[in-house]
Amino acid sequence: MVKNDGDCVVLNSEELTLPEKPYRLYRFLTELEDILETITDDCLRIQQIMPLVRKLLASSYWLQMEFSAPPTDPGWSVEFLYDEYEFPLTIQMVAWLPGNISPIHNHATWGIVAVVGGEEKNKFWRRVPTLEYPNRIECVGEKILVPGDIIGFTSDAIHCIEALGNEPVVTFNLYGVTTYHKRWEFDSVTHQAKNF
Ligand SMILES: [Fe+2]
Repeated sequence: MVKNDGDCVVLNSEELTLPEKPYRLYRFLTELEDILETITDDCLRIQQIMPLVRKLLASSYWLQMEFSAPPTDPGWSVEFLYDEYEFPLTIQMVAWLPGNISPIHNHATWGIVAVVGGEEKNKFWRRVPTLEYPNRIECVGEKILVPGDIIGFTSDAIHCIEALGNEPVVTFNLYGVTTYHKRWEFDSVTHQAKNF
């Protein structure tokens, strides 16, 4: 789990026992809704939801094919698996062509990303504001994620990703409700940030 200051904490996960019956998307959504109604803290939500994401992905092979082949321009694609008005989360399958790098950004909501194909580098940043540059950031770490890896972000965690290897990086992405005026794209050279 990546926290607002870029600190990366390893969460202990219990050994996964696959349920006898497939763990369907609708059960996953129902359990998520219950968690989100009772827990408000980003970190606790991520800790509770991550094991469910593992169970869903291990139980639902169909999910791994539910992405659109990314076009060369812009080099990535987003397929919404679930997005309902006033439901407190969205599920997306995101694919990146190798060699592409995302902007440096936060999500202004909690998020969980599970790699289902390819390999991606995640870089983590933190704010180091100065009087002259209130949106100055610095890189504090990076991790390479492969299929089976799951990463969580608190709402002000700042990161960027780079698609490595020779095949598209495909990820299962879960996000809460974005507060758009708090979602930023950062420029680490000019030390500027803009809403996106
Ligand atoms: Fe992101």
